[in-house]
Amino acid sequence: MWDELGAAVQVTAAEHIATGELCAFNELSIKGAPDSVTHQEDTLVLAAHRGHRLGLLMKAAGLLSWHERFPLSANVITYNAEENRPMLSINEALGFAPIAYEGAWKKELR
Ligand SMILES: CC(C)(COP(=O)(O)OP(=O)(O)OC[C@H]1O[C@@H](n2cnc3c(N)ncnc32)[C@H](O)[C@@H]1OP(=O)(O)O)[C@@H](O)C(=O)NCCC(=O)NCCS
Repeated sequence: MWDELGAAVQVTAAEHIATGELCAFNELSIKGAPDSVTHQEDTLVLAAHRGHRLGLLMKAAGLLSWHERFPLSANVITYNAEENRPMLSINEALGFAPIAYEGAWKKELR
């Protein structure tokens, strides 16, 4: 679907059949021409469902389906916190490779 900013967004979600609970989701988006870079947005697995490869499988399913819709978008960019080992492991397994490092500054106002 297209959001209000003109970006196409695909949400992949997993349902826990026994309870009907949506237990995981991830999003991919693209803005502009169909050969633009794809951006990986949020990925989340509910805490009770982590460690069962759901994050990996859901992200792989999302990328396969995305590639069918946007075959001309050849690159996907994602961002990772360096301390988030579970997410880094998933991205490495899927073949993502680091291209740049970014620093962020924080000031606490209190
Ligand atoms: C990151 C996240 C999506 C992973 O989901 P998941 O379904 O548990 O992941 P998987 O089962 O596919 O496991 C992926 C890797 O994380 C490891 N892992 C899973 N749970 C872990 C935990 N609690 N602590 C440390 N490692 C863990 C797995 O062993 C696996 O690593 P390996 O391939 O080296 O064995 C999930 O932890 C999450 O939702 N975290 C909070 C949101 C978040 O950080 N999103 C990413 C923002 S960029």
